[in-house]
Amino acid sequence: MSNPVSVEDYRRLARRRLPRLLSDYIEGGALSESALNRNVTDFEQVHLRQRVLTGVEHVNLSTNILGTDLAMPLVLAPIGLTGMYARRGEVQVAVAAKQAGVVMCNSTMAICDVREVTAAAGPVWYQLYLLRDRAYMKILLDRVWAQGCTVLALTVDVGVPGERQREHRRGMTGELGPLGHLTRAIDGITHPAWLWDVYAKGRPHIFGNVNEAFGGGDGGFAAFWTWARTAMQVSLTPDDVAWVRENWPGKLVVKGVIDPDDARRAVDAGADGVIVSNHGGRQLDSALSGIKALPRVAEAVGDRATVMMDGGVRTGEDVIRAMALGAKGCMIGRAWVWGLAARGGAGVSHVLELFRKQMTTTLVLAGCDDVRKVGPDMLA
Ligand SMILES: Cc1cc2nc3c(=O)[nH]c(=O)nc-3n(C[C@H](O)[C@H](O)[C@H](O)COP(=O)(O)O)c2cc1C
Repeated sequence: MSNPVSVEDYRRLARRRLPRLLSDYIEGGALSESALNRNVTDFEQVHLRQRVLTGVEHVNLSTNILGTDLAMPLVLAPIGLTGMYARRGEVQVAVAAKQAGVVMCNSTMAICDVREVTAAAGPVWYQLYLLRDRAYMKILLDRVWAQGCTVLALTVDVGVPGERQREHRRGMTGELGPLGHLTRAIDGITHPAWLWDVYAKGRPHIFGNVNEAFGGGDGGFAAFWTWARTAMQVSLTPDDVAWVRENWPGKLVVKGVIDPDDARRAVDAGADGVIVSNHGGRQLDSALSGIKALPRVAEAVGDRATVMMDGGVRTGEDVIRAMALGAKGCMIGRAWVWGLAARGGAGVSHVLELFRKQMTTTLVLAGCDDVRKVGPDMLA
């Protein structure tokens, strides 16, 4: 396919280029992958009013979310291991986001250290997984703040990793036997473009932001996951949110909230915003999709905090649908990951351009000239 025109096209291209270990890691969800699938299909039930005799021709997409000026209401979601999908992937993504006038949220589980990313792209948003080692947490928060990053997304839904069977099947989460090593080697060798770009030229493959805490070396997923399971704090409480609040001078947004009660707790503990998210369908398989959960969370939070959502956002029209249901903007995950894996930074830029065009078209056809005016009155 030489002319990708959709996120789905990029998914197919990415699947060809990446070893199966990685394409399954990205695509997969928990258990039956019902939450994963509903994240996408539930958008189909959100209908916008088609308004044509309105004379709208030009639209404004720019907005401001949590103090960050954005050319469109999009933030690139934090994705672990991005530097394994393309050479120094986090840097490429952050640069592409900046060029499009938006921002990437850098994962704690990134390959590239946040300092490598900000040196190339300037300040980004930063996503935090809370480790039990609070002294290290303070060092990391100070480091991120010193880079000029002003928004921290505290992810609260992965105290325990979801049951992702594709990851177990590929040996991503456990020890590999001799045959497993052979299978993995074949998986790599049969994807030569990836092998050259990432495996050979993209080193070091360490978890840049937590490597000091992990104390590990290059590679070794199994050793890393074993460490992460004990190092990460299982089961958070509002006190943990409050601890981060005390130690982070910038904006704090709590990511991974589906239930209105959790949203209220997060805001009571000092969060400036919440991201309605089921972690891309990777955690609780029976959880509501982000788009289904959004209206009740938005209602619970009211004007007290900023509400964003993610999960299954595949088009610019999906972003407008979410905004009509109460979100200030969306995060996109797999959409940009597939662009990156298929075509590097240029793929991410193209995906963002697709979103920009689709949002523009949607607003014109819905008779709205400014994305900041999108609201429930646009729902059919
Ligand atoms: C491969 C992969 C890795 C992810 N890693 C992280 C992570 O490190 N931190 C985090 O907060 N969320 C992580 N997420 C969840 C995303 O930030 C986001 O919530 C989700 O991808 C949104 O759904 P979508 O992919 O359908 O857009 C990850 C998701 C995927 C698919």
